Amino acid sequence: MMRLIIVFVSTALLVPVAHAEPSSAVAFDLPTIKLLKSADPEKGETLAKESKCAKCHGDAGVSDDPDDINIAGMSASYSFKQLKDFQDKKRDDKDMYKKTKKLDDKQLADLAAWYATLEPAKPAADRKMTAEVRKLIIHGDPERLLKACAACHGRKGQGGQFDHPALTGQNETYLVDMMTAFQDGDRTNDIYSRMRYVSEVLTEEEIEALASYYAADLPEEEE
Ligand code: HEC
Ligand code: HEC
Repeated sequence: MMRLIIVFVSTALLVPVAHAEPSSAVAFDLPTIKLLKSADPEKGETLAKESKCAKCHGDAGVSDDPDDINIAGMSASYSFKQLKDFQDKKRDDKDMYKKTKKLDDKQLADLAAWYATLEPAKPAADRKMTAEVRKLIIHGDPERLLKACAACHGRKGQGGQFDHPALTGQNETYLVDMMTAFQDGDRTNDIYSRMRYVSEVLTEEEIEALASYYAADLPEEEE
């Protein structure tokens, strides 16, 4: 017992309480929820055209270029948080910073609401859920304190509440890049380090297998 207390005290001394900068300035508090509820997708559509979002995300939020990122059908709450994080430089990307820096919160919410109304890309019709992938998605791995992907991203990878993004229909390269970025600490805007922890305990092979399972069908493969 004594030893346990000593371990606790010494760990507490090693970790300064105020050491962590907040990973995001967005909180899903009442004002944010009201803002999201009052968002106007039609205004978002006009603004998306003026801002030329289609150049990198495709006309309807889905791009045929495998290096682009699909944003159609993502929840408005998730997309809004990302747009704010890019603007606040909590998530680092030069293009997205430029696109968001002059917009106010209402405009970001309108954009997020517009993309939320669009149809997400479909995953490959013949994708197979291997036993390894099933375990990670449906059960997680208690030995690594790894929660099931489905607990946060939905059973079908369709996304969950607030800041939990959809994964199904996303570009494969981007899925791998993001898990690697969380693993390396290059993306740190996940509140409570939830995705940093998950990515840290996944192996490279698992990351690739998961990305390939959730990924959008590539246009070439449809022919
Ligand atoms: C010049 C290319 C470019 C343009 C134009 C652009 N984006 Fe992006 N967008 C990106 C890149 C690159 C990323 C991913 C950044 C990263 O790697 O973290 C991204 C990410 C995003 C994300 C987060 C996606 C996710 O799954 O986390 C959203 C939402 C988004 N963009 C919305 C928009 C909107 C709305 C516009 C127009 C106002 C826009 N983008 C214009 C390149 C662009
Ligand atoms: C405890 C909740 C939680 C679990 C479990 C979890 N995630 Fe996440 N994940 C998140 C959150 C929250 C984000 C978004 C962080 C942010 O930017 O605010 C995220 C983001 C992601 C992204 C980036 C998506 C994008 O559009 O940029 C990928 C990829 C991802 N998760 C894959 C996975 C996979 C695969 C698993 C299972 C091995 C998993 N996650 C398990 C909470 C979780």
